Amino acid sequence: MKKILVIGSANMDMVVKSPKIPRVGETVLGGVFAQHEGGKGANQAMAAKTLYEGTLFCAGMGDDSIGRDYLAYLQNKGMDTSLVKIFKGSHTGVALITVGKEGQNIITVAPGANLKLSPADMQSIDFSQFSHVAFQLETNIDTVEEGLKLAKKAGCTTILTPAPAKLLSDEILKNVDWLVPNEIEILQVQRGFTSMKTAAESLLSKGVGNVIVTLGERGCALFNNDGEQRFSTFSVRPIDTVGAGDCFTGAFMAGLKMFDKIDQAITFANAAASLKVTKVGAQSYATQKEVLKLMKTK
Ligand code: RIB
Repeated sequence: MKKILVIGSANMDMVVKSPKIPRVGETVLGGVFAQHEGGKGANQAMAAKTLYEGTLFCAGMGDDSIGRDYLAYLQNKGMDTSLVKIFKGSHTGVALITVGKEGQNIITVAPGANLKLSPADMQSIDFSQFSHVAFQLETNIDTVEEGLKLAKKAGCTTILTPAPAKLLSDEILKNVDWLVPNEIEILQVQRGFTSMKTAAESLLSKGVGNVIVTLGERGCALFNNDGEQRFSTFSVRPIDTVGAGDCFTGAFMAGLKMFDKIDQAITFANAAASLKVTKVGAQSYATQKEVLKLMKTK
């Protein structure tokens, strides 16, 4: 059985809970501090692995204590890290995060070794072992472009979360089967769009297979050649939304492996992301059983 591969970032999240998200120039006295494993790539990989066995993670990490601890954590969780590369002299990615009262957040990332993963590293991967391969944009864009090209050539289903958002070349877009931006990111990957629908139509015309725009508590919108379809999410009380989008993508890949219908994979992903926001930490994921139980309430 072919596996899922997530290629992307591993960051240590340094999180402060705060009654208020600070404005520029403002100092706010926050609450408790916590350190959690994060990074969009690792979050997606852990979500996919928690919900569906058979996931590998590929990332660049530093030869520092954060990197060593992070690698040990992934291995303790049973993650296959054989494609993780350690870069001497680089620090492991770190994310400084403030989480507000309603679970909303602001994040600044120091990417460190995440940016060291190179196009040559992509060329050394045998993509034919994988059915689904996911990328985000906390790695070098040339690495993402090369990885998408090779994965697509090997017959994999390719997934790209364009976060943090940047303009995407036609070369990248033509190799993406599933683009999964949020409603801000979809307007930032191309120039000149102010509406989600026209932006999605343009992306489809450039060769993207499907676009899923995640809409937070409003669920998500799917755009493809069949038109637009909306999916509502599940009603929960959010306490920490960090990693909810990553959870959606990881769970969506697991859902594609588990179900025949796209609708079911999306509902499964919505249920997993809804449960994630009720827990603290980017990788605090519910089990497959819990997600299926919530899914059945729809
Ligand atoms: O998407 C959430 C993630 O963004 C955090 O875990 C943080 O590390 C940043 O990469």
